[in-house]
Amino acid sequence: MKKKHALLSLCILLCFWQCDSPKKEISHSTTAVLGLISQKAMVVSAREEASRIGSEIMQQGGNAFDAMVATEMALAVCYPNAGNLGGGGFMVYRTHRGEVGALDYREKAPLRANRDMYLDENKKYLQDKSKTGGLAVGVPGTIAGIFKAHKRFGSLPMQTILRPVILLAKNGFKITEKQAKQFNDYSAVFKQVNQENSIYTKKFKAGDVFKNEALANTLQQISDNGRSAFYQDEIAKTLVAYLQKNGGIISLKDLDNYQAIWREPIVFNYKDLRIISMSPPSSGGICMAQILKTTANYPIAQYGHNTTKTIQVLTEAQRRAYADRSHYLGDPDFIDIPVDSLLSDAYLKGRMDSFSFEGATPSKELTHGAISQAESTETTHYSIIDSYGNAIAVTTTLNASFGSKLYNKKLGFFLNNEMDDFSAKPGTPNLFGLIGGDANAIAPQKRMLSSMTPTLVEKDNKLWMTLGTPGGSTIITSVLQTILNVYEFNMSMQQAVDAPRFHHQWLPDIVKVEATSFDAKTIKELENKGYVVDYKNASSIGRVDAILVLSDGSLEGGADKRGDDTAVGF
Ligand code: GLY
Repeated sequence: MKKKHALLSLCILLCFWQCDSPKKEISHSTTAVLGLISQKAMVVSAREEASRIGSEIMQQGGNAFDAMVATEMALAVCYPNAGNLGGGGFMVYRTHRGEVGALDYREKAPLRANRDMYLDENKKYLQDKSKTGGLAVGVPGTIAGIFKAHKRFGSLPMQTILRPVILLAKNGFKITEKQAKQFNDYSAVFKQVNQENSIYTKKFKAGDVFKNEALANTLQQISDNGRSAFYQDEIAKTLVAYLQKNGGIISLKDLDNYQAIWREPIVFNYKDLRIISMSPPSSGGICMAQILKTTANYPIAQYGHNTTKTIQVLTEAQRRAYADRSHYLGDPDFIDIPVDSLLSDAYLKGRMDSFSFEGATPSKELTHGAISQAESTETTHYSIIDSYGNAIAVTTTLNASFGSKLYNKKLGFFLNNEMDDFSAKPGTPNLFGLIGGDANAIAPQKRMLSSMTPTLVEKDNKLWMTLGTPGGSTIITSVLQTILNVYEFNMSMQQAVDAPRFHHQWLPDIVKVEATSFDAKTIKELENKGYVVDYKNASSIGRVDAILVLSDGSLEGGADKRGDDTAVGF
């Protein structure tokens, strides 16, 4: 702890010249022991432009919810693989008065969806149909989400908030090296799925300025005419005609029916922390609560960070939680979820009866199935704290990178492939290798189960941390490891976010560790105990964006070194 405080003092001294004026904005994106420190407010997101726009909205007097709208839409412009108008997400919030809540703007199955829509006449699962093209698209929720959040908590006019975002789309932004590679990698797929060229099928290099006039126009219509521009008027008509031309089944009625929903978050204690996270239809909060409540029974700080014993405890807790996930979790508006039982101390203790440090519990003894990870995935998370003390954590997604790959040239945005998060055929894995059961079967108007885990943490009844990450099924385990890194292993926020991560999800029965980041001795010890360790195939697990409230009230950003993620604050 002493070391941490000395480093903190040094950093505060170093950035004193930067932080002296509360109006001067600072940003930080490089790997460091400490992340950006700012005194009043901060946004950490996948892109500097989005963090900056969110931060500037707060400098103009806006609150965290105004900044949420700005950041969410800015990500749709400058991080289009996951930021979106054509997808959905979740927000968890804590107001300056300590009230907590959650907003669900997850996509929904269209009215014409049915349980077997991805099966052929022989009940064979047609994998591609839930992943690419019109039939993969769920009814988008993001625009409903930002308007719902703004209506309850916003303080600046929507036009003021959207103005800098529209300018960003119009004037463009410089694409990064990572982004140029990503756009180039997907260019042929975009061409093939859309059967035409677009601004995304050009050849890119780092530093190119990327403009999206069509998206600027769409955002302008939303700014001028509100939510109905997207769900009822011109945008809706264009979208429905386009989707139907591409094999989709979303109708004007689907768009008109869509509502974002306020939900009670999942709230639980880990030792003296109070953790507030996303409730179903995300599995994030329940799964994380099961894993952390189980972990609390073991002295992992004594075992040490990423040691064999710590990895064993977390892996076995993860294995059991993900097995429960596939049985019990789905859309709470359609099924009953036994939340209290799943989170009861007695139940969780009992689940670990079969665990011994001598060896791994084979997943097939917990239940059945065998699958493999299919494709890398993109979602995105941002964390915001404002100068009034409000905090939010938002995770938003198109599901896979660029979703269904369908890009509407007239509207300027991509459409999700969130339908793949349903269990199209129980026992068959989705994009993330997750097996689902009946609880997550497709039904008209149902929301598909998610792993997104936007999370806030309180310590001593005060706000302590806000965090989340992309990463599909690895989201839950990345979030909880980040919390443990600070709480149990005394890391700074930046160190906690950058530290090597591992993941187990029951099936496939594999401990996935970030390549080259774990020592050979630990991997050998785990293998000797019967764990199958994959240390070759995951170049990175998650990209956590987080903010920690330090003991003097200042904020430390943790912007994950794995991406272009950046903290901006003042
Ligand atoms: N599509 C990723 C998730 O919702 O978990």
